[in-house]
Amino acid sequence: MNADLAAIQDDALAAIGAAADSTALEQAKIDFLGKKGRLTGASALMKTLPKEEKPAFGQGLNAARQAITAALEEKQTALQDAADLASVAGIDVTLPARGLPIGGLHPLTRIKDDAIQILRRMGFALAEGPEIEDEFHCFDALNTPADHPARNEKDTFYFDSGKLLRTHTSSVQVRTMEGQRPPVRIIAPGSAYRRDEIDATHLSVFNQLEGLFVAENVSLADLKGTLIYFYQELFGADTELQFRPHFFPFTEPSFEIDIKLHVPGREPKWIEVAGCGIVDPAVFEAICKSRGDDVYHPDKVTGFAFGMGLDRLAMIKWGIKDIRLLIENDTRFLSQFA
Ligand code: DAH
Repeated sequence: MNADLAAIQDDALAAIGAAADSTALEQAKIDFLGKKGRLTGASALMKTLPKEEKPAFGQGLNAARQAITAALEEKQTALQDAADLASVAGIDVTLPARGLPIGGLHPLTRIKDDAIQILRRMGFALAEGPEIEDEFHCFDALNTPADHPARNEKDTFYFDSGKLLRTHTSSVQVRTMEGQRPPVRIIAPGSAYRRDEIDATHLSVFNQLEGLFVAENVSLADLKGTLIYFYQELFGADTELQFRPHFFPFTEPSFEIDIKLHVPGREPKWIEVAGCGIVDPAVFEAICKSRGDDVYHPDKVTGFAFGMGLDRLAMIKWGIKDIRLLIENDTRFLSQFA
């Protein structure tokens, strides 16, 4: 190789070897291979050489360019490797990884799922209805007269249109019977709304589960058998229940169901968990009128219905003292159920 070219190559390799960072390396590249670089300058000499010397000089030029380019690439890789290593210096790769928190189901979801599962095993199908209801489906069809306290503006959220936020899921009974012929065996879990003062046991939005069974010859024994089985599945086989006579406009006879609550260190006490009863013939008459047929005529079918608060069931199941915990989304409380 031409002595000048050899000197340029040696100088270039020395500069590349000495470059401590990518800026210095870039500068070396410019100094030797750039437009005004030394190798580029040397290639201009080609023109001045006699013809026979040109091929050798050309080969020398190429060889020098290749050597310098290879050295640049190698150095670039070495600098990048060093930078990568420096960026992870001080990281202890033997430390255990940080755990990812695993989510869990909300207690209300769990109690609702449990309740649905038990009732579905007994042949109840899921039914739905709107949360914004009209007075017919929430009250009139359920034999609840205009002067009933539930229809008071103080107790219920009314819209200007006269519609309202349903005060109970019993409205789904009416909608289901309007839409399908007997037999009917449905449950309707969902939100219900009341203008209650919010405290440890009341919220203005809560969760109910309504049930309805209508067929020929449905009796009080069917009602009791179904609900005793339900609560014993939900809370344990030794759960004691009592059916206490009560009044609901849409059932006759009507009952409230209490279960016996055992709190360690205290006298057991009865706590109300549901309303229920045998569907009042007046409800069937309203359905016949609304449907325009008599498949639900009270001479043909009988039925039972029940409604329960899911929030309260969750509170009983897990000993939750304040219903507000169920809607505050405090993970210190909720993580206990995960
Ligand atoms: N709708 C009632 C309430 O919100 C609960 C209830 C009682 C539902 C008796 C029923 C029933 O279906 O038969 O308090």
